[in-house]
Amino acid sequence: SNEVNAIIIMFGGSGDLAHRKLYPALFGLFQHGILKDRFAVIGTARRPWSDDHYQGVVCDSVKEAGGTDDEAIAAFSQHFYYQSHDVTDADHYVTLKKLAAKLDDQYHVGGNRLYYMAMAPTFFSTIATHLKSEALLTDTGFNRLIIEKPFGHDYDSAKALNDAITGTFKEEQIYRIDHYLGKDMAQAILALRFANPWLKAVWNKEHIKDIQITLAEAVGVEERAGYYESAGALRDMVQNHVMQLLAYLTMDEPKALTSEAIHEVKAKAFDDLHRYTEEEARQNFVRAQYAAATVDGKQVPGYREEDGVAADSMTDTFVAGKMLTDNPKLAGVPIFIRTGKRLTRKSTQVTITFKGGDGLFGTTPGDQLTVYIEPNEGYTLELNAKKLGEASTLEREWLNMRHTDQAIADAPEAYERLIGDVLAGDQTNFNHWTELAQTWRYVDVISKAWAKDQTMPTYPAGSMGPKAAFDLLKDGDHHWYWQP
Ligand code: BG6
Repeated sequence: SNEVNAIIIMFGGSGDLAHRKLYPALFGLFQHGILKDRFAVIGTARRPWSDDHYQGVVCDSVKEAGGTDDEAIAAFSQHFYYQSHDVTDADHYVTLKKLAAKLDDQYHVGGNRLYYMAMAPTFFSTIATHLKSEALLTDTGFNRLIIEKPFGHDYDSAKALNDAITGTFKEEQIYRIDHYLGKDMAQAILALRFANPWLKAVWNKEHIKDIQITLAEAVGVEERAGYYESAGALRDMVQNHVMQLLAYLTMDEPKALTSEAIHEVKAKAFDDLHRYTEEEARQNFVRAQYAAATVDGKQVPGYREEDGVAADSMTDTFVAGKMLTDNPKLAGVPIFIRTGKRLTRKSTQVTITFKGGDGLFGTTPGDQLTVYIEPNEGYTLELNAKKLGEASTLEREWLNMRHTDQAIADAPEAYERLIGDVLAGDQTNFNHWTELAQTWRYVDVISKAWAKDQTMPTYPAGSMGPKAAFDLLKDGDHHWYWQP
């Protein structure tokens, strides 16, 4: 069986991420028999909760995420323990260590430990340092660290954080989360690119006109202004999710489907990214903030009116950019990216636009291949085809495929896949330090350019961003692809 024994220590056990995503994900692993009898979860956070209360919270979280098997949920929640914890207090780590050892005996775990940092990033370094000084890592079994984003704020802070965690954990013990890498349809890009020889043959500058990546959200900043004000869309979405998808779309073929081989080509893809000067960054990247508007009959506040947001905030809620790679196979092919809050609707999709041409049928537009990542999951191929009943008149046809809601519901959610990977010791879908260093360096140039700029364009809530984001594509007759 695939059963894995482990004591999971969850820093941020009372937090929102744990509640919304992590407990349901662990429950999924429980239902699939990966976590079975020999595991326990220690939730830690500041507030003083009893085990009972904590188990109730875990049950609620699983039910809110759609869990219905009450008996299984109750059995699952029995594996949860709570330890009130001040992350800066060394004594608390000693208590934690003893509890872990006790539960290890009780559940016959054999030394495996998974440390999950799912809390305010300010404490990541402190926790890592204490795990070492209070000797929590075991000598038998595995010790693995899962660390959530944000992994730093720029290259320097990311480096400092990395230095702190690598003082305690080795690279092969560290699992840096980018939850987009756990999404089924993000992983599907690899199969699409490398399991279809004809597609491989045209994945180059001779045939590709442009590559587009859109990560659109309909929600605003919600209750997260405290974090978001210091992040913005560039740090929140581009440095990680957008660039990870970009790597999948532009990287060379890996030698094997192994973590090592995939990380090697991804690192090269980031190396190959064409670096802009600050001036070029200013020309090729657009930022903006959403402004108040009526969306679906409801009045929606602008970003600067949201709770916790400064009235003169310079935080970007939207980014669009034109990127280039120096990889000779794709050199010169523009890669258009955009992401933002309060856009028309939630959709993550990537589109490859192929070149059109002149031929027997005159001038024909290029074909377009789209991968729908979320919430729709599937593919569209738009191509030129003969109109029924006519000799040689063309029309655009759509080959359309979507996974069914049922199939989507049956497939494990991103976090379940990712935590499952960690338990299995598979680092494929996690960020190596090299990738973080590369992506932060790329993004830092843009942040620096923007820091010197006092203008902040706006876009109406519910739209697809400012005009400037459309103007970016004007050169060379490119157009944003945006279909349901
Ligand atoms: C997170 C960002 O990393 O990704 C959020 O911090 C964003 O601001 C979220 O809403 C989007 O993820 P998903 O899976 O809903 O597309």
